[in-house]
Amino acid sequence: MSTEGLTLEDVRARAKEKLKGFCMVYKDCNGAPSRFCQGQHYGRPLGIGGMGSGASFHNNWLALRKLRLKTKLISEHFEPDTTFSCFGKQLSMPIMAASVAGVNSFGGEKVITEREFCQATVQGCNEAGTIAWRGDTYTYSIDESPGLDAIAQGNNGGVKIIKPRTQQEIIRFFKKAEQRGVSAVGVDIDGCGSYMMRKHNQKVFRKSQADIRELVTSTSLPVVVKGIMCAKDAVLAAGAGVAAIVVSNHGGRVLDSTPGTADILEEIVKAAAASNVMLLADGGIRTGYDVLKMLALGAKAVLVGRDIVRAAVGAGSEGVRLQMEYLQKTLTRAMLMTGCKSLSEISSDIVLRRQPEESQVVED
Ligand SMILES: Cc1cc2nc3c(=O)[nH]c(=O)nc-3n(C[C@H](O)[C@H](O)[C@H](O)COP(=O)(O)O)c2cc1C
Repeated sequence: MSTEGLTLEDVRARAKEKLKGFCMVYKDCNGAPSRFCQGQHYGRPLGIGGMGSGASFHNNWLALRKLRLKTKLISEHFEPDTTFSCFGKQLSMPIMAASVAGVNSFGGEKVITEREFCQATVQGCNEAGTIAWRGDTYTYSIDESPGLDAIAQGNNGGVKIIKPRTQQEIIRFFKKAEQRGVSAVGVDIDGCGSYMMRKHNQKVFRKSQADIRELVTSTSLPVVVKGIMCAKDAVLAAGAGVAAIVVSNHGGRVLDSTPGTADILEEIVKAAAASNVMLLADGGIRTGYDVLKMLALGAKAVLVGRDIVRAAVGAGSEGVRLQMEYLQKTLTRAMLMTGCKSLSEISSDIVLRRQPEESQVVED
């Protein structure tokens, strides 16, 4: 199917058609209890929703909605600079595709194969001037890793995240990543709660600080720990020598009832400030306005999960490119209106906190 002249709206309409039974491609993907994908109750499959009641997924969205952006308008005109340097690469924006795997389970190969999904994500990100992170799931192995293959094929770097498998398995993945042009590697330590890995009898483990240190020293690549949701874990990960941490609740997919990431980001930023670890965040980010909020709370860059799935399913790499460009455009507009010339000028001064409130969902 041709992708020429497509708008992001067209991409999402196509995704809605293809993802029937999994995702309704709502205007606001907010994980509210009434949403089609939500609530993995009583044996209902996880799909693209959240664990258990789905509250962790919803809380990500609510946490961002509690923040308002303040305009600051009087100064000489400027064009905001969104460029960002990450693992030795100069990116057009502080926004990357999140490590996501297992998308072939949303309707099977007639919707998208795992290889097509990984290739579309890597290529679309590269075309927009950024990079993709790639995930890991029960169908992946050292010999069958569509994410590593896509990064190698894209020839422009990317980040490969491995589930908290045995130390030996992770180190073998890291070694393979070194040979395949990957920019950084890491572990989603919250993957020890992975529903899909357990369901398919693949062992995942909690990791100690010594385990993380062993992983850091096992490779020449920068190592990332993803899935940090408390100050203590941030300090332990930084102490183990990681290059970056991602404040993330896995899009609400590993534990019910966690806070939204934007609710706990600042306390983790504060705890990690004494180290030189790079701090990233994800969860519920749908626009450049959301990106700016996360950066104002202290994240250096962000990852986007579900919207990239929809973009790739809707129109392959072209969909991903359009999605990334939309995020960059809205971030640029938000920086212009809040008086931030470059990423280094973004601070907590530009956000206003509202009182927590019940979700106000407009169904579409
Ligand atoms: C379908 C799906 C699969 C995912 N697979 C992985 C994975 O393999 N590894 C990982 O680190 N995170 C995985 N995640 C979590 C994302 O990396 C990211 O943390 C989350 O999607 C961000 O929230 P958002 O979807 O609201 O943007 C997955 C998320 C989704 C929705």
